[in-house]
This record gives sequence, C-alpha cells and structure tokens, in this order.
Amino acid sequence: MLESCTFVIFGATGNLSRNKLLPALYHLEVEQQLPNKMAIVGLGRQDWNIEHWRQWVAEEIESKARGGLDKAILARFQQRLYYFQGDLTEGNTYHQLRAYLEGESQAFPGNIVFYMSIRPAEFGVVSDNLGMVGLNSEKDGWRRLVVEKPFGYDLESAESLETRLHRCFAERQIFRIDHYLGKGTVQNVFVFRFANLMLEPLWNRNYIDHIQITHAETRGLEGRAGYYEGTGALRDMIQSHLLQMLALVAMEPPPSMDPESLRDEKVKVLKSIRPIPASAVNAHAFRAQYAPGTLQNEKVLGYLDEKGVAEDSTTETYAALKLYIDNWRWRGVPFYLRTGKRMATTTSQISIRFKHVPQQLFRQTPIHRIEPNWLLLGIQPNECLRLELQVKEPGLEMRAYTTTLDAAYCSQGEIKLDAYEALLLDVIEGDNSLFLRYDEVRWAWRVVDPILKVWASEREFIHSYGAGSWGPSETSRLFDRDDQRWRNTL
Ligand code: BG6
Repeated sequence: MLESCTFVIFGATGNLSRNKLLPALYHLEVEQQLPNKMAIVGLGRQDWNIEHWRQWVAEEIESKARGGLDKAILARFQQRLYYFQGDLTEGNTYHQLRAYLEGESQAFPGNIVFYMSIRPAEFGVVSDNLGMVGLNSEKDGWRRLVVEKPFGYDLESAESLETRLHRCFAERQIFRIDHYLGKGTVQNVFVFRFANLMLEPLWNRNYIDHIQITHAETRGLEGRAGYYEGTGALRDMIQSHLLQMLALVAMEPPPSMDPESLRDEKVKVLKSIRPIPASAVNAHAFRAQYAPGTLQNEKVLGYLDEKGVAEDSTTETYAALKLYIDNWRWRGVPFYLRTGKRMATTTSQISIRFKHVPQQLFRQTPIHRIEPNWLLLGIQPNECLRLELQVKEPGLEMRAYTTTLDAAYCSQGEIKLDAYEALLLDVIEGDNSLFLRYDEVRWAWRVVDPILKVWASEREFIHSYGAGSWGPSETSRLFDRDDQRWRNTL
C-alpha cells in the first residue's frame, strides 16, 4: 500500500504539466495506483479558484486520456486537485504555501513531493525558498524534490545547481528525472542484453562496426520557444536522453539491479567517453536548424518563423555526434547519436551494425557485396527487436538477400504504461533506481560542454534542413567510413 502524500506541481499550467504530468496522474487514478489519500496541488501564477482549476485540468486531459475520459474516475480525480496561486520568485509565496499545506483543512498529507515542472533557471530559487520556510524538513513526513532536465545549462552551472540543491535537500530526497528511463522499451535494453547469453560474445569491438542512436520527431516547438531558444537539441535531448540510452547499450553487467550498482556502471561508461577537444568539434559534432518545409502534406514554418524565436536565432533543432568509448569493450567503435525536431517521422531507435563477413563467398541482390547484419531496437513508436540476416535467394544461383527476424512482441505503437506514470509512482514509492545520480549528469555535461562552447562562439556555422526531411545531407561527414550511413527505419 502506498503511503499517503501531497503532490505539489510548480509550473502547473505549463507545457510539461499539461501534456505529461496531469495525464499521467489521471491514468494512475484509472489504474487505481494512486495512494488512497493523495492531494495534488497545482501552483501557478494565474488567479484561479479551485473550481476553475479542476475544470481546466479536465479539459486538458480530455484529449490525452487513453481510451477516452471516464466521467466517474475523472470526478474522483478532481477531488484530489487543489490550486495555489503564487509567484515562484517571491519569498512570500513559500511562507503562504507552507501555511496552506499545514492549514486547518487537513487535506494535505505530511509526505510531500515537490515537482519542479518549471524553467531550469528557476530550480535553484525554488529549492532555496522551500528550505527557507522549512518545507525541506522531514519532521512531519518525507519530502522529495523532483528536478526536471536539463540539470543546469552547462557543466559549471550544473555544479552550482547541485551545490545549491544540497544546501536544503539530502541526496535521497532529490530525484533527477530523465523520462526516457521510465520507458518500458528503454528498460528492455537491460533485459535484452543481460538475460540473453548468446549476445554477450558479440557485444563488443570485435563484431560491432558502429552503433547509432536516433531520436527523430515531427513535432516542432509546440509553444515552447521560451524554453527551447535557450536550450537547443544538444542540451534538450543528447545531454540527457540519448546519452542515457548510450550508457545502457554500452555498460557492463551490474553485479545486481540495486540502484547504486546500476548507476555505477552507467557512470563508468560516461566517464570512458573520449573527450572532444575544441579543435575536433567539427569532426565530431554537427548542428542544423529547420527551414520551412512540408510535413505530411502540410506546409510548416521554419524555426525562425516560430512564435517567440529570435529572428537571428542560431539555436540548433538538429544535433548529431560521433563519440568513442575508450574502454576494453568499445575502443574504436563509433557511436553516432542524432536527434531532430520537424523531421520526416517520429521514431526512436538503437541500430547496431555488425562488421562485414571476412570473405565474400556470395553475391548479393541487389548489390554485389554481402550486407552486414543489423540488430535494431525500436524504442518508439514501434517497440521492436529486429535482426537483419542474409539468406539464400531461391533459385539456381548462390546469391544472398536480406531478410528480417522480428521478436514476437513487436508492437504497432500501443503504449501500455507511459514513462511518466512509471516514474511518478517511483517517486511516491521512494525508489530512485531510474533517476540520475549527480555524477551521471556531470559526466554527461563533460561530453557536451566543449561542443556547446565552440557552437556558442561560432554561431554563424549552422546548417539548415527542410522541415519534414531527415536533416541535412552534410551530416554524413561524421561517418568514419564510406559504407556507414544513417539508418532511418527499422
Ligand atoms: C523532452 C524534450 O525531454 O523529450 C522534448 O524536452 C522532446 O523537446 C521530448 O520532444 C521527447 O520525448 P518523447 O517521450 O515524446 O519521446
């Protein structure tokens, strides 16, 4: 049985809260996973009363509810919702918040989650103020602080944010979220790797030519210019989600699944990533910005025409990197990471390309050289595990062609449990296995920081790509060899 708690959302009317947190909490209500006594307090600037807030939430989640909104469940969910109006930057807000949470109504259980669904620049202020009014103290129940990504703006600001949070909160109270770790398909990378003995002998530099990790999305800014302009694709996706996926693919088996063992192994991988010196940034990193284009037969704006974007903005909406992991297992194997907004399709996948066979005994249709094997892990929307193999073409000739072996579970985009649902439950249960330890964050910043510095000083060198495309063709300059190319499909 889950302990009762109060769930306070800072930035309750913002994009993340509307699109992810509130729908996730509603779905947990549907699945009867929430504690019996749980209050959800939305904190926002708007001068709303509780009825208005409850109605607003209902309208927000209506279109996002899986299988449609259930009126009776919604009514139950709405009873948990409270609204507190306040300005995050004012100390007074926090005094009032404390009085509100500890007030006469007794509506609010003493265990409290503070979820910072706000601009990263405000994380420190909120934490300081919670500490200032004693809302960090665990005298009347546990207190947990959920910190969204990006954690900091670069390595230096991440270090100071970390020090600042620790002034008021202990490590066990801090939950640094990376919602990719809540995706069942990302967790499947562990199971796939460490529950199948036959893969282990192949999982290294002797057999693997290179690995690609792709996250592409057709989405544009969706009203998030305020956040995205100061962030860009490298900070938004690669520093967190893609480097986490890389860590899972490349890590050594942990001695057990306890949180520290897992995170120790991920840190070792991140630490082993070869630093990119400023002089090599152009050979290892690529950035671009979307121009107007056509997506699913509709014309869409270019990044510079989006509302809230500076007309001379050089924020990248596409970023690609080549990384090497200098350890015994991976030395010399390139890891290509890329992400982009307004791309041709929405997909996240890990594509592992094996080396060529040592001798070409057969010809292949339609090309002459025998194709190498690929192992493809579809993360979303299609959860899939696909192996590409060569087999003999029917007929008299000894020719090969490529066929695929799919694991039986390959789905067609049906999501069983959203990442935020899984992770919010973990926060309520106090399980931090799937949350980041600070050293993971620090090592990830160490990888991207030199690139960000060069990009900040060479602002004019940004490429562009038409919205709805797969990014600029020049991005292939990252490849080590002529026979390497981006894998766009499963
Ligand atoms: C978020 C980024 O962390 O992840 C967004 O801020 C991005 O820009 C999103 O669109 C992608 O997440 P998902 O779960 O939709 O793949």
